[in-house]
Amino acid sequence: MADHIGTLVVLGAGGDLTKRLLLPGLGQLLDSSRGYDLTLVGVGFDPMTDEEWRARVLDSFSAGGASGSRAKSVARRSRYVQADVSDPSDFRRVLESVDGVPALYFALPPQVTIAAIKTLERIGVPEGTVLGLEKPFGTDLRSAKALNRRLLRLVPEKHIHRIDHFLGKSTVLNVLGLRFANRVFERVWSAEDVASVDITFDETLGLEGRAGYYDKAGALVDMIQSHLLLVLALVAMEPPSSLDADDLRGSMAQALRATRVWNGDAVAAGRRARYGAGTVEGRKLPAYIKEAGVHPELETETLAEVTVGIENWRWAGVPFRLRSGKALADRRQQIVLTFKEVPHRPYGLTGDPGPSRLTIALNPDGIALDININGEGDPFGIDRVVLDATFGAGELGPYGEVLHGILNGDTTLSVRADAVEECWRIVGPVLTAWRKQEVPIDGYRAGSTGPAVWR
Ligand code: BG6
Repeated sequence: MADHIGTLVVLGAGGDLTKRLLLPGLGQLLDSSRGYDLTLVGVGFDPMTDEEWRARVLDSFSAGGASGSRAKSVARRSRYVQADVSDPSDFRRVLESVDGVPALYFALPPQVTIAAIKTLERIGVPEGTVLGLEKPFGTDLRSAKALNRRLLRLVPEKHIHRIDHFLGKSTVLNVLGLRFANRVFERVWSAEDVASVDITFDETLGLEGRAGYYDKAGALVDMIQSHLLLVLALVAMEPPSSLDADDLRGSMAQALRATRVWNGDAVAAGRRARYGAGTVEGRKLPAYIKEAGVHPELETETLAEVTVGIENWRWAGVPFRLRSGKALADRRQQIVLTFKEVPHRPYGLTGDPGPSRLTIALNPDGIALDININGEGDPFGIDRVVLDATFGAGELGPYGEVLHGILNGDTTLSVRADAVEECWRIVGPVLTAWRKQEVPIDGYRAGSTGPAVWR
């Protein structure tokens, strides 16, 4: 446990992330059964009065559904400090103004985060300080290692929270309950019975004005290098003996260490595409390359698919396909385990609806088990039935959940340094092949299910 966090300092207080995700998550947390009392300080480059800041905080809290007395009281006592985090005297002024042990949340663009960390290296941080950082953690393996070294010079690993909000999604966490609180699934959770695993996160959203960041990242770095590989780690890891930070993250890191691009062939293991103009859910979208701020010569993909293998006893030979893209027809966001065919089907059973499948849906949350059974009518004919269940939302959204970890000194749901580095190692060869144009970039219409040539 970290010492009690007295002040949450949000660096980048005027930004979009703070408004849309962080503050709504904080409001939910303050109003929840796990509620806290703390001082909230917003820090930004631009001038803002305390009143303006408090009004923003209250707006974001209510956007996240929080209007309880605890959230309101934190908003009313909150302060805004105008500061340039690359300036040591400004940053010192921020740190001197905090009550108790601070948690510094870097809701800043990556270059500004690095500048802020360099400033902290010069001025030091108060004893017990906790750091919360947003992805991307570096831009490749080398820069991720350099960033991790810098962070460790400031505070110990147990005080570093690398935030990946997918680890705060309730269904992602449900993978743990499903796997480890039932005998029936874990018994078939290996290459013995599983033919393939698909982890898919298709979005209907387009670029949403985020060219400055996304055009340099692309779908591979934005989604697969971070979120989807962590989901893979939870799906593929060995059972940890507890869910404390060391055990859970140790199991996840072990699975990632065994993961490589399929057959070691970075060119064949992935494909990429970019959306053209189209209509998604009734909204007209321009072609990606016509979006403001996009540099077409970067050849940034908006849809990426990479197949990896996990080279260990449990998973050898099972392809894990990771796919994510923007401006697609449906929000297909799920983990699907496709089981192998039975070794022998008694002669006389007719019909073949395909192998059994377990789907863990991330949006809306649920699970579905597709099984084959003698259906209605012909008693020897095999039909498909789906046993499914949908779940209500968790008490907290993903940001509330990860903030709970930060304020509670629990790093279970934050990404450990070695996991970040492993994720870069895994995608590194694919990134290199794509940057060298060794894999063509396909096209798809916004609002379609992807390139026709992929079907
Ligand atoms: C973010 C990505 O980390 O996750 C976005 O940068 C993506 O591009 C988002 O849209 C998806 O997560 P969620 O929870 O908003 O669906």
